[in-house]
Amino acid sequence: MQTIQTINELKQIIALNNAKTIGFVPTMGYLHEGHQALLNKARKDNDIVVASIFVNPAQFGPNEDLDRYPRDIERDTQLATDAGVDVLFIPSANEMYPFESDINIIVGDLSTKLCGESRPGHFDGVLKVITKLFHLIQPTKAYFGQKDAQQLAIIETFVDAYNFPVQIVRVPTVREPDGLAKSSRNVFLSETERGEAVHLYQALQLATVTWETTDDLTAAIAKGREHIESNTSGKIDYLEALSYPDLKPVTGETKEVLFATAVFFEKARLIDNILT
Ligand code: PAJ
Repeated sequence: MQTIQTINELKQIIALNNAKTIGFVPTMGYLHEGHQALLNKARKDNDIVVASIFVNPAQFGPNEDLDRYPRDIERDTQLATDAGVDVLFIPSANEMYPFESDINIIVGDLSTKLCGESRPGHFDGVLKVITKLFHLIQPTKAYFGQKDAQQLAIIETFVDAYNFPVQIVRVPTVREPDGLAKSSRNVFLSETERGEAVHLYQALQLATVTWETTDDLTAAIAKGREHIESNTSGKIDYLEALSYPDLKPVTGETKEVLFATAVFFEKARLIDNILT
């Protein structure tokens, strides 16, 4: 595996590529089995696998956890090697953003719902870095987790609308044995919170089942919220059901429904969802 830090090195490697398929997995590091699932899928589908580790300042708000986002490059490098990654790109913030660009990508309605409501500008920052990485790496396929369903919906819509020559591949959420979605931020949970965190997924399951059996979405959401409120010390940011991937109110026509939640714990904000 080649580990590189600069755009010049990356350009040289990509220029040498002789019509081989490139699978790309963008990450912010502190890799876990969720990331591994993306890497494994990319390894299976492509000739070359490129992964990136970059804690992207553009997608963090002023009061968010950019400075304390967990990092462990040594462990990540080992994990990427084991997963069969060919090129690991770990740029600095200065390498990615050497100057302040006057031109930005602004997401519309898709970013005003769910996570976008409490994280203004977050998805603009995600698209900023993804656009640069796609241009530099020129992947055949790029892999994203369903765990971040809104991010996935926005990236799929963006790529489609602007004809990026890349295929976006959805990878299902990887969970702990008790159901908690794997996340780099789970390390911020206290022991008690870690025990409580399983109730996010349970609440989503309860809401989904209630909706499927009663067809009453309001009651389903209320049940999910009540489950989190009575079983955790966390504060609900949202628990909602929207159509997927356009994130509009659910109607009789809706084909795919996204039940999604975000909950603030003391030092971590956790998200989870079910697509049904
Ligand atoms: P990060 O949170 O590191 O996640 C990188 C990728 O791993 C994303 O596509 C995410 O959905 C996926 N992932 C995380 N946990 C997962 C799980 N439990 N199961 C399946 N997939 C999981 O998402 C980002 O980084 C950034 O926003 C990024 C896309 C890299 C842009 O900076």
